[in-house]
Amino acid sequence: MSTDHHAGLEEVKVMPSSITLIEGRSLYYRGIPIEELARQSNFEEVVYLLWYSRLPGVRELDRLKKELRENNQIPWEIQEMIHHLPRQAHPMAALRTLVSALALHDHEADILTYEANERKAIRILAKIPVLVTGFERHRKAKSIIEPRQDLSFAQNFLYMLWGEEPDEISARTLETALVLYAEHELNASTFNARIVTAALADMYAAITSALATLKGALHGGATQKAMEMLLDIGDPQAVPEWIDVRLARKERIMGFGHRVYKEGDPRVPILKAMAEKLCLQLGYEKAYETALAVEDYMLKKKNLRANVDFYGGLVFYALGFPTDMFTAVFAVARTAGWIAHIFEQYENNRLIRPRAEYIGPRNVKYVPITAR
Ligand SMILES: CC(C)(COP(=O)(O)OP(=O)(O)OC[C@H]1O[C@@H](n2cnc3c(N)ncnc32)[C@H](O)[C@@H]1OP(=O)(O)O)[C@@H](O)C(=O)NCCC(=O)NCCS
Repeated sequence: MSTDHHAGLEEVKVMPSSITLIEGRSLYYRGIPIEELARQSNFEEVVYLLWYSRLPGVRELDRLKKELRENNQIPWEIQEMIHHLPRQAHPMAALRTLVSALALHDHEADILTYEANERKAIRILAKIPVLVTGFERHRKAKSIIEPRQDLSFAQNFLYMLWGEEPDEISARTLETALVLYAEHELNASTFNARIVTAALADMYAAITSALATLKGALHGGATQKAMEMLLDIGDPQAVPEWIDVRLARKERIMGFGHRVYKEGDPRVPILKAMAEKLCLQLGYEKAYETALAVEDYMLKKKNLRANVDFYGGLVFYALGFPTDMFTAVFAVARTAGWIAHIFEQYENNRLIRPRAEYIGPRNVKYVPITAR
């Protein structure tokens, strides 16, 4: 059998892109190191940077914020729909369904001009947190809270979830997490969004399929699974046995390993520091210490390092999100990156249609059903 193929497309550069650079243990959005953005920037500014290739001026940023606020109301039919979704549905399945349904209420859904796409980008990003928090409120049998017009994107997210204005630390923590999760080159969901876009499907279709991909346990779903693991282990002392049993069964330990970063994920130190601060402040020492013990043990035992979802999950946990909502929070941030890639794809489009290496039988005779 020939091996002229690339299972998993690892290390294959399938297209040029000027959005994100990953180089060794460094990550840059439009050339700016992620550490600087996490420290100094905010989510709306990063959205502008990703979509328009440069940092905004004061007026440009104000305009983007205003447009996001003006577009954050969801149609009443979608509110109704949220009320009819099964409460036990997974938040990512609900979100995927709601984004797809949102397209039916957008008269420009099928118009693919740059201007229409720009307007849809704003509408989608503005509404995604409203859908995520709306479903969360619904499944807790609480009324849906409308977004406020005077709060930032991150503040509004927590406000719609909690029903009260978030404290400064929570809002800033979520803000930084949104910045870190906003974009990451050609990961599986982003690549999927580009494939859908390349076929000249619409932006809602691309985001819906990206959401479907992100839900997977090897991708964004790992955020939830990694936290469930920490809660299940429960104590640093229990780590070796818990891990050994799973490794012996050839199971994957969620939140570890990475297709691109073999020497460490640059987002991890930032998220880890945030997780430490929050966990110690809020009384989640046990969870944090268990995380440290798992990280230590996985490095020793398998030479595998924690990835973004390991400490990202712990940050979401300390912020008070239910574990099965983590991937949806990730999705809110990543929508910014998906849209940047959708713009880039439309700008210089080529249908994405690779080949498979055929390994099945050849020249097989058709046998009529009566003779089989
Ligand atoms: C992310 C991931 C899919 C990348 O994997 P990949 O590039 O395909 O790496 P490989 O599957 O080639 O793994 C190389 C080796 O490390 C092992 N490995 C990789 N990640 C592992 C993990 N999380 N737990 C246990 N073993 C792991 C593989 O089993 C393989 O071992 P082998 O050579 O003995 O077969 C993988 O690390 C994984 O499944 N991680 C858990 C899910 C996760 O956290 N996803 C979020 C990513 S940001």
